Amino acid sequence: MRIDCQQAKELLLRDEVVAVPTETVYGLAASLHSEKAIEKIFELKSRPKENPLIVHISQKEQISQICGGLPPFFEELARAFWPGPLTLVAPAAMSVPSIARAGLPTAAVRMPDHPLTLKLIDAIGPIVAPSANLSGLPSSTTPDHVEQDFGKEFPILEGGTCTKGIESTILIFDGSVWRIGRQGSIPLEEFSRILPYHLCFDKRKNSSCPGQMFKHYSPRAKLTLSQESYSGTPETVVGFEGRHYPNARQVLILGEIEKPETVMANLYNILRQLDNAGIEEAWIDADFPRKGLLATIAERLEKASART
Ligand code: TXA
Ligand code: MG
Repeated sequence: MRIDCQQAKELLLRDEVVAVPTETVYGLAASLHSEKAIEKIFELKSRPKENPLIVHISQKEQISQICGGLPPFFEELARAFWPGPLTLVAPAAMSVPSIARAGLPTAAVRMPDHPLTLKLIDAIGPIVAPSANLSGLPSSTTPDHVEQDFGKEFPILEGGTCTKGIESTILIFDGSVWRIGRQGSIPLEEFSRILPYHLCFDKRKNSSCPGQMFKHYSPRAKLTLSQESYSGTPETVVGFEGRHYPNARQVLILGEIEKPETVMANLYNILRQLDNAGIEEAWIDADFPRKGLLATIAERLEKASART
Protein backbone atom coordinates (compact mmCIF):
# COMPACT_ATOMS: atom_id res chain seq x y z
CA MET A 1 0.00 0.00 0.00
CA ARG A 2 1.51 3.32 -1.05
CA ILE A 3 1.28 6.01 1.64
CA ASP A 4 2.32 9.67 2.00
CA CYS A 5 4.50 11.34 4.59
CA GLN A 6 1.61 12.25 6.90
CA GLN A 7 0.33 8.65 6.93
CA ALA A 8 3.87 7.34 7.52
CA LYS A 9 4.23 9.71 10.46
CA GLU A 10 0.93 8.57 11.99
CA LEU A 11 1.84 4.89 11.64
CA LEU A 12 5.30 5.34 13.14
CA LEU A 13 3.84 7.23 16.09
CA ARG A 14 1.46 4.27 16.63
CA ASP A 15 4.40 1.81 17.01
CA GLU A 16 4.02 0.51 13.46
CA VAL A 17 6.69 -0.23 10.83
CA VAL A 18 6.71 1.41 7.40
CA ALA A 19 9.03 1.12 4.40
CA VAL A 20 10.83 4.35 3.55
CA PRO A 21 12.93 5.42 0.55
CA THR A 22 16.58 6.41 0.81
CA GLU A 23 19.14 7.14 -1.87
CA THR A 24 20.74 3.71 -1.34
CA VAL A 25 17.94 1.16 -0.82
CA TYR A 26 14.48 1.16 0.79
CA GLY A 27 14.52 0.80 4.59
CA LEU A 28 12.05 -0.76 7.06
CA ALA A 29 11.58 2.06 9.51
CA ALA A 30 10.55 2.25 13.16
CA SER A 31 10.75 5.19 15.53
CA LEU A 32 14.01 4.96 17.50
CA HIS A 33 12.02 5.10 20.71
CA SER A 34 9.44 2.41 19.89
CA GLU A 35 10.89 -0.87 21.14
CA LYS A 36 7.65 -2.53 20.07
CA ALA A 37 8.09 -1.44 16.46
CA ILE A 38 11.81 -2.34 16.51
CA GLU A 39 10.85 -5.87 17.66
CA LYS A 40 8.46 -6.03 14.70
CA ILE A 41 11.28 -5.16 12.28
CA PHE A 42 13.32 -8.16 13.42
CA GLU A 43 10.27 -10.43 13.10
CA LEU A 44 9.19 -9.12 9.69
CA LYS A 45 12.66 -9.60 8.20
CA SER A 46 13.45 -12.81 10.12
CA ARG A 47 16.57 -10.94 11.12
CA PRO A 48 18.89 -12.39 13.78
CA LYS A 49 18.68 -10.32 16.97
CA GLU A 50 22.50 -10.08 17.02
CA ASN A 51 22.42 -7.89 13.92
CA PRO A 52 22.08 -4.23 14.95
CA LEU A 53 20.22 -1.48 13.03
CA ILE A 54 21.36 1.84 11.59
CA VAL A 55 19.85 4.98 13.15
CA HIS A 56 18.84 7.55 10.53
CA ILE A 57 18.86 11.26 11.37
CA SER A 58 17.85 14.41 9.48
CA GLN A 59 19.79 17.11 11.38
CA LYS A 60 23.33 17.18 12.73
CA GLU A 61 21.92 18.35 16.09
CA GLN A 62 20.41 14.85 16.52
CA ILE A 63 23.87 13.23 16.63
CA SER A 64 24.12 13.81 20.38
CA GLN A 65 20.97 11.68 20.88
CA ILE A 66 22.73 8.77 19.17
CA CYS A 67 26.46 9.04 19.95
CA GLY A 68 27.96 9.44 23.38
CA GLY A 69 31.08 11.32 22.29
CA LEU A 70 32.49 11.92 18.86
CA PRO A 71 35.69 10.16 17.71
CA PRO A 72 38.31 12.15 15.78
CA PHE A 73 37.29 12.95 12.19
CA PHE A 74 33.60 12.12 12.85
CA GLU A 75 32.57 15.69 12.13
CA GLU A 76 34.81 16.01 9.07
CA LEU A 77 33.41 12.76 7.61
CA ALA A 78 29.82 13.82 8.34
CA ARG A 79 30.40 17.25 6.81
CA ALA A 80 31.89 15.73 3.66
CA PHE A 81 29.33 12.97 3.04
CA TRP A 82 26.00 13.80 4.75
CA PRO A 83 23.29 13.69 3.70
CA GLY A 84 24.55 10.64 1.86
CA PRO A 85 25.52 6.96 1.91
CA LEU A 86 27.99 6.97 4.81
CA THR A 87 27.23 5.19 8.10
CA LEU A 88 29.48 5.92 11.07
CA VAL A 89 29.73 3.57 14.06
CA ALA A 90 30.76 5.28 17.30
CA PRO A 91 30.14 4.86 21.07
CA ALA A 92 26.36 4.95 21.67
CA ALA A 93 24.44 7.48 23.75
CA MET A 94 22.62 5.90 26.71
CA SER A 95 19.22 6.68 25.19
CA VAL A 96 19.66 4.40 22.13
CA PRO A 97 17.59 1.31 22.97
CA SER A 98 19.73 -1.79 23.44
CA ILE A 99 17.57 -3.81 20.98
CA ALA A 100 18.45 -1.36 18.16
CA ARG A 101 22.19 -1.86 18.68
CA ALA A 102 21.93 -5.60 19.46
CA GLY A 103 23.35 -4.95 22.93
CA LEU A 104 26.58 -3.43 21.56
CA PRO A 105 28.08 -0.34 23.26
CA THR A 106 28.17 1.38 19.85
CA ALA A 107 25.56 2.86 17.51
CA ALA A 108 25.53 3.19 13.72
CA VAL A 109 24.24 6.49 12.37
CA ARG A 110 23.68 8.10 8.99
CA MET A 111 21.77 10.98 7.39
CA PRO A 112 20.08 9.59 4.27
CA ASP A 113 19.76 11.73 1.14
CA HIS A 114 16.07 11.49 0.31
CA PRO A 115 13.75 14.49 0.76
CA LEU A 116 10.71 12.46 1.93
CA THR A 117 12.56 10.48 4.57
CA LEU A 118 14.38 13.59 5.81
CA LYS A 119 10.99 15.31 6.13
CA LEU A 120 9.60 12.31 8.02
CA ILE A 121 12.54 12.30 10.46
CA ASP A 122 12.18 16.07 10.94
CA ALA A 123 8.58 15.37 11.98
CA ILE A 124 9.06 12.43 14.36
CA GLY A 125 12.76 12.31 15.26
CA PRO A 126 15.39 9.65 14.45
CA ILE A 127 14.30 6.30 12.99
CA VAL A 128 16.02 2.93 12.78
CA ALA A 129 15.94 1.25 9.38
CA PRO A 130 17.54 -1.90 8.06
CA SER A 131 17.21 -2.62 4.35
CA ALA A 132 13.61 -3.51 3.40
CA ASN A 133 14.13 -7.12 2.31
CA LEU A 134 13.69 -10.51 3.88
CA SER A 135 16.93 -11.39 5.65
CA GLY A 136 19.42 -12.88 3.15
CA LEU A 137 17.65 -11.72 -0.04
CA PRO A 138 18.79 -8.80 -2.24
CA SER A 139 17.81 -5.37 -0.87
CA SER A 140 14.87 -3.44 -2.30
CA THR A 141 15.51 -0.51 -4.61
CA THR A 142 11.88 0.09 -5.67
CA PRO A 143 8.48 -0.03 -3.92
CA ASP A 144 7.68 -3.12 -6.04
CA HIS A 145 10.63 -4.97 -4.49
CA VAL A 146 9.32 -4.14 -1.01
CA GLU A 147 5.91 -5.52 -2.02
CA GLN A 148 7.51 -8.71 -3.34
CA ASP A 149 8.96 -9.37 0.13
CA PHE A 150 6.27 -8.01 2.46
CA GLY A 151 3.04 -8.14 0.46
CA LYS A 152 0.72 -5.65 -1.23
CA GLU A 153 -0.78 -4.41 2.04
CA PHE A 154 2.53 -3.35 3.55
CA PRO A 155 2.72 0.45 4.01
CA ILE A 156 5.36 2.02 1.75
CA LEU A 157 6.25 5.69 1.67
CA GLU A 158 6.43 6.04 -2.10
CA GLY A 159 9.73 7.67 -3.07
CA GLY A 160 10.56 6.30 -6.50
CA THR A 161 13.57 4.20 -7.46
CA CYS A 162 16.66 4.52 -5.24
CA THR A 163 19.32 6.46 -7.13
CA LYS A 164 22.40 4.70 -5.72
CA GLY A 165 21.07 1.14 -5.53
CA ILE A 166 23.61 -0.30 -3.05
CA GLU A 167 23.76 0.23 0.71
CA SER A 168 25.81 2.84 2.54
CA THR A 169 29.51 2.44 3.20
CA ILE A 170 30.08 1.71 6.91
CA LEU A 171 33.10 3.01 8.84
CA ILE A 172 33.70 1.86 12.41
CA PHE A 173 35.84 3.68 14.96
CA ASP A 174 37.89 1.03 16.79
CA GLY A 175 39.14 3.27 19.61
CA SER A 176 42.06 4.69 17.69
CA VAL A 177 41.31 4.69 13.94
CA TRP A 178 38.37 4.34 11.53
CA ARG A 179 38.07 0.96 9.83
CA ILE A 180 35.92 -0.41 7.03
CA GLY A 181 32.83 -2.23 8.31
CA ARG A 182 31.11 -2.62 4.93
CA GLN A 183 31.95 -1.50 1.41
CA GLY A 184 29.12 0.52 -0.06
CA SER A 185 28.10 3.22 -2.46
CA ILE A 186 30.94 5.57 -1.49
CA PRO A 187 34.15 4.09 -2.92
CA LEU A 188 36.84 3.61 -0.28
CA GLU A 189 39.32 5.72 -2.25
CA GLU A 190 37.20 8.81 -1.46
CA PHE A 191 38.08 8.76 2.23
CA SER A 192 41.71 9.66 1.55
CA ARG A 193 40.44 13.26 1.14
CA ILE A 194 39.48 13.31 4.82
CA LEU A 195 41.50 10.72 6.72
CA PRO A 196 45.28 11.09 7.02
CA TYR A 197 45.75 7.30 7.00
CA HIS A 198 44.90 4.32 4.84
CA LEU A 199 41.62 2.58 5.72
CA CYS A 200 41.84 -1.11 6.66
CA PHE A 201 39.06 -3.65 7.04
CA ASP A 202 37.72 -4.27 10.53
CA LYS A 203 38.89 -7.83 11.03
CA ARG A 204 38.60 -7.89 14.82
CA LYS A 205 37.30 -11.10 16.32
CA ASN A 206 33.51 -11.08 16.63
CA SER A 207 33.66 -8.45 13.91
CA SER A 208 31.98 -5.30 15.06
CA CYS A 209 29.87 -5.19 11.87
CA PRO A 210 27.81 -8.27 12.71
CA GLY A 211 25.73 -8.12 9.54
CA GLN A 212 28.76 -9.05 7.46
CA MET A 213 28.75 -12.53 8.98
CA PHE A 214 25.32 -13.47 7.70
CA LYS A 215 24.35 -14.75 4.25
CA HIS A 216 23.36 -11.75 2.17
CA TYR A 217 22.04 -10.24 -1.03
CA SER A 218 21.36 -13.69 -2.53
CA PRO A 219 18.61 -14.57 -4.95
CA ARG A 220 17.38 -18.18 -4.87
CA ALA A 221 19.06 -18.76 -8.25
CA LYS A 222 22.49 -20.37 -8.13
CA LEU A 223 25.08 -17.84 -9.33
CA THR A 224 28.42 -18.73 -10.89
CA LEU A 225 30.88 -15.84 -10.88
CA SER A 226 33.58 -16.01 -13.52
CA GLN A 227 36.52 -13.99 -14.76
CA GLU A 228 37.04 -16.39 -17.70
CA SER A 229 35.27 -16.19 -21.05
CA TYR A 230 31.75 -17.61 -21.25
CA SER A 231 31.59 -21.23 -22.31
CA GLY A 232 27.86 -21.61 -22.92
CA THR A 233 26.55 -22.79 -19.56
CA PRO A 234 24.56 -21.93 -17.55
CA GLU A 235 22.27 -20.63 -20.29
CA THR A 236 21.46 -17.35 -18.55
CA VAL A 237 24.15 -14.68 -18.37
CA VAL A 238 24.30 -11.53 -16.24
CA GLY A 239 26.80 -9.33 -18.05
CA PHE A 240 27.79 -5.96 -19.45
CA GLU A 241 26.74 -3.90 -22.43
CA GLY A 242 29.07 -4.22 -25.42
CA ARG A 243 30.43 -7.62 -24.40
CA HIS A 244 29.64 -10.82 -26.26
CA TYR A 245 28.43 -14.02 -24.69
CA PRO A 246 28.15 -16.45 -27.63
CA ASN A 247 25.40 -19.09 -27.32
CA ALA A 248 23.83 -17.54 -24.23
CA ARG A 249 20.08 -18.17 -24.21
CA GLN A 250 19.39 -14.86 -22.49
CA VAL A 251 21.59 -12.04 -21.27
CA LEU A 252 20.55 -9.68 -18.47
CA ILE A 253 22.50 -6.45 -18.83
CA LEU A 254 23.85 -4.69 -15.73
CA GLY A 255 25.02 -1.68 -17.77
CA GLU A 256 28.31 -0.44 -19.15
CA ILE A 257 31.39 -1.37 -17.18
CA GLU A 258 32.62 2.22 -17.69
CA LYS A 259 29.54 3.47 -15.84
CA PRO A 260 29.67 1.65 -12.50
CA GLU A 261 27.00 3.97 -11.02
CA THR A 262 24.50 2.52 -13.50
CA VAL A 263 25.64 -1.05 -12.82
CA MET A 264 25.22 -0.41 -9.10
CA ALA A 265 21.73 1.02 -9.58
CA ASN A 266 20.65 -2.05 -11.62
CA LEU A 267 22.29 -4.79 -9.60
CA TYR A 268 19.60 -5.80 -7.08
CA ASN A 269 16.83 -5.42 -9.64
CA ILE A 270 18.62 -7.88 -11.92
CA LEU A 271 19.27 -10.34 -9.09
CA ARG A 272 15.57 -10.17 -8.21
CA GLN A 273 14.58 -10.58 -11.88
CA LEU A 274 16.32 -13.97 -11.92
CA ASP A 275 14.00 -15.24 -9.21
CA ASN A 276 10.91 -13.56 -10.65
CA ALA A 277 11.56 -15.31 -13.98
CA GLY A 278 12.10 -18.65 -12.23
CA ILE A 279 15.70 -18.91 -13.47
CA GLU A 280 17.60 -21.50 -11.46
CA GLU A 281 21.16 -20.83 -12.52
CA ALA A 282 23.05 -17.89 -13.98
CA TRP A 283 26.61 -17.18 -15.10
CA ILE A 284 27.88 -13.79 -13.96
CA ASP A 285 30.60 -11.85 -15.77
CA ALA A 286 33.01 -10.88 -12.98
CA ASP A 287 35.84 -9.87 -15.30
CA PHE A 288 36.45 -6.27 -14.18
CA PRO A 289 38.96 -4.45 -11.97
CA ARG A 290 38.26 -4.31 -8.22
CA LYS A 291 38.56 -0.53 -8.01
CA GLY A 292 36.22 2.26 -6.92
CA LEU A 293 32.55 1.29 -7.06
CA LEU A 294 33.44 -1.86 -9.01
CA ALA A 295 35.12 -3.15 -5.83
CA THR A 296 31.79 -2.79 -3.99
CA ILE A 297 29.91 -4.42 -6.87
CA ALA A 298 32.34 -7.37 -6.85
CA GLU A 299 31.90 -7.78 -3.09
CA ARG A 300 28.09 -7.86 -3.42
CA LEU A 301 28.28 -10.38 -6.27
CA GLU A 302 30.60 -12.61 -4.25
CA LYS A 303 28.25 -12.50 -1.26
CA ALA A 304 25.23 -13.07 -3.52
CA SER A 305 26.82 -16.17 -5.04
CA ALA A 306 28.00 -17.65 -1.74
CA ARG A 307 26.03 -20.76 -0.85
CA THR A 308 26.30 -20.37 2.94
O1 TXA B 1 22.16 2.14 2.97
C1 TXA B 1 21.93 1.61 4.07
O2 TXA B 1 22.76 1.58 4.98
C2 TXA B 1 20.54 1.00 4.24
C3 TXA B 1 19.50 2.13 4.20
C4 TXA B 1 18.11 1.66 4.50
O3 TXA B 1 19.90 3.15 5.06
N1 TXA B 1 20.47 0.27 5.47
C5 TXA B 1 21.08 -0.93 5.65
O4 TXA B 1 20.79 -1.53 6.84
O5 TXA B 1 21.82 -1.42 4.81
P1 TXA B 1 21.09 -3.10 7.14
O6 TXA B 1 20.42 -3.33 8.43
O7 TXA B 1 20.65 -3.90 6.00
O8 TXA B 1 22.63 -3.15 7.33
C6 TXA B 1 23.19 -2.51 8.47
C7 TXA B 1 24.56 -3.00 8.73
C8 TXA B 1 24.58 -4.44 9.26
O9 TXA B 1 25.65 -5.12 8.62
C9 TXA B 1 24.87 -4.24 10.75
O10 TXA B 1 25.55 -5.33 11.31
C10 TXA B 1 25.70 -2.98 10.75
O11 TXA B 1 25.10 -2.18 9.77
N2 TXA B 1 25.65 -2.27 12.05
C11 TXA B 1 24.59 -1.65 12.61
N3 TXA B 1 24.89 -1.19 13.83
C12 TXA B 1 26.18 -1.50 14.07
C13 TXA B 1 27.07 -1.30 15.16
N4 TXA B 1 26.70 -0.70 16.29
N5 TXA B 1 28.32 -1.79 15.04
C14 TXA B 1 28.71 -2.40 13.90
N6 TXA B 1 27.91 -2.64 12.83
C15 TXA B 1 26.66 -2.19 12.91
MG1 MG C 1 20.53 -5.41 4.68
